[in-house]
Amino acid sequence: MRILVIGGAGYIGSHVARAFLDRGYDVTVFDNLQTGLRENLFIEAEFVHGDIMRPEQLREAMAGGFDGCIHLAALKAAGLSMLNPEIYAEANIAGTINILNQASAAAISRVIFSSSAAVYGTPQYLPIDEEHPKEPENFYGFTKLEIERLLGWYDQLKEMRYAAIRYFNAAGYDVSGRIKGLELHPENLLPIVMETAAGMRPKLSIFGDDYPTKDGSCIRDYVHVSDLAEAHVSAFEYIVEHDKSITVNLGSQTGVSVFEMVERARVLTGRSVSADVTGRRRGDPSELVASSSKARELLGWSPKYSDIDTLITSTWKMYEKFTNH
Ligand code: UFG
Repeated sequence: MRILVIGGAGYIGSHVARAFLDRGYDVTVFDNLQTGLRENLFIEAEFVHGDIMRPEQLREAMAGGFDGCIHLAALKAAGLSMLNPEIYAEANIAGTINILNQASAAAISRVIFSSSAAVYGTPQYLPIDEEHPKEPENFYGFTKLEIERLLGWYDQLKEMRYAAIRYFNAAGYDVSGRIKGLELHPENLLPIVMETAAGMRPKLSIFGDDYPTKDGSCIRDYVHVSDLAEAHVSAFEYIVEHDKSITVNLGSQTGVSVFEMVERARVLTGRSVSADVTGRRRGDPSELVASSSKARELLGWSPKYSDIDTLITSTWKMYEKFTNH
């Protein structure tokens, strides 16, 4: 089967492209290389250098015919979305409309969409299941929720089946080192901790130690990117088999605090990771932990690499190369 991976040169997209290739699919990657990296492209996959803001480039890429497309081409920094909503609206919402309309015109009837736990906002109960109220606290989460709604309409009106996958905190790198590109200008906790450990930045800011959690820092559910990638393949196969759209959470169901992550990284890297507690970051819920039972039941999914030690060591392997002290 032929799969178009839009955003397939990015951090998550390259792991997803790898997972489809490993399962024997014929993969084409479409990416504008703005945050995606050439090093993340695989020789076995065709590459189209294109931009989702240019419908004609999507049209041309989709003309070959695909059994499905995976949409990972988006901006993902929750904090920055609060400062630049216009850019997030354009890239995430308008960009997705382009993809859906071109897919519809090209008779591509299956879409796997990278959604996010950010659609839920502050948890009203834990762990968060898919029925939890959706009240995003940041603009990024709002864009993801809007796209899920669009997908619901395209399912109804155009028979476009979708899987909306709500990622919790994606982290880690392919454990066998097959992803070559290091994410540039990371905004997320673990790569920032690693940059600090590797001496690429002098210190890390811990955004708040006065949250109502066990140690005062925020708690997140970190899920390994290879586990996420595997779920995309299973979700695609589910919608092929059942001709039915689904929305699932993907998380490890384990909460890790910022302090715990930093402390464990110090132990596993053997580096001092200098950190200061600073003020809270806008739009940060205190605790997010997933219930992934729906993905486990429907997709037979279970995370293999999402324990904190594998998350840290697989990431550190990438950063160690950049150590300059
Ligand atoms: N944090 C710090 N210092 C930093 C960076 C992060 O203390 O330099 C803290 C944050 O305040 C937060 C935690 O580390 O408490 C995780 O922050 P990230 O920025 O790594 O991740 P977020 O939880 O804000 O968001 C991530 C993804 C989103 C996704 C969300 C779902 O970036 O795309 O997880 O849970 F929607």
